[in-house]
Amino acid sequence: MELIFSIVIAYLLGSISFSYVIAWNVKKIDIRQHGSGNAGATNILRVLGKGPAITVLSLDVLKGVAAVWIARLLEITDFFPVWTAFGEVEGMASALAGAAAIAGHNWPVYYGFKGGKGVAATIGVVASLVFFPAVYVGIAAILSIVFTRYVSLGSLIFAVVTPVVIILTNFHYDHPSPYFYLTAVIGVLAVWKHRSNIKRLIKGNEHKIGSKVS
Ligand code: G3P
Repeated sequence: MELIFSIVIAYLLGSISFSYVIAWNVKKIDIRQHGSGNAGATNILRVLGKGPAITVLSLDVLKGVAAVWIARLLEITDFFPVWTAFGEVEGMASALAGAAAIAGHNWPVYYGFKGGKGVAATIGVVASLVFFPAVYVGIAAILSIVFTRYVSLGSLIFAVVTPVVIILTNFHYDHPSPYFYLTAVIGVLAVWKHRSNIKRLIKGNEHKIGSKVS
């Protein structure tokens, strides 16, 4: 019960598309019909500029953090007395809530299931679950964006390399296994969601940060 409750809350939270909300309120536009068509901070940067992009990025990251922490608090406080066998696996409730938040971001119930690529929500979820691996990979991802100016490349590095770093550092941090499985699924999902970006990266015509998309 507790598990289902936290998954539903996480999905509903993740479904709040801050890029859609801010683009609509600032300029009365549907961000999904502008720039790359993605409902995310990178596209908001392209279409509306730095301030709105930083706001969207922060709020999308925070909703991932909130989804995980709500599940964690329910787990800790045993808010609902009924435990499922599944919920008793350490870390399972917060990992599934994280997955639900990212699913909400990608396929939001409030906006016809057409959302973003899940990167900002992933940052919030992953940083809440596996903080140090997220910091190490986050630094590598930021450096790759600074040097190449491809946000999609940094996003892919963050999503794909995190599970590898979890495995490599597990002797030290000993993260619950659901965290590893979640990040592995996130990595596969990120590759799928970025398939058009990957094609452009290979061809060498991916959009650089802040550049206009015709
Ligand atoms: O977070 C999404 C980013 O990795 C790529 O966005 O708009 O360039 O497809 P976009």
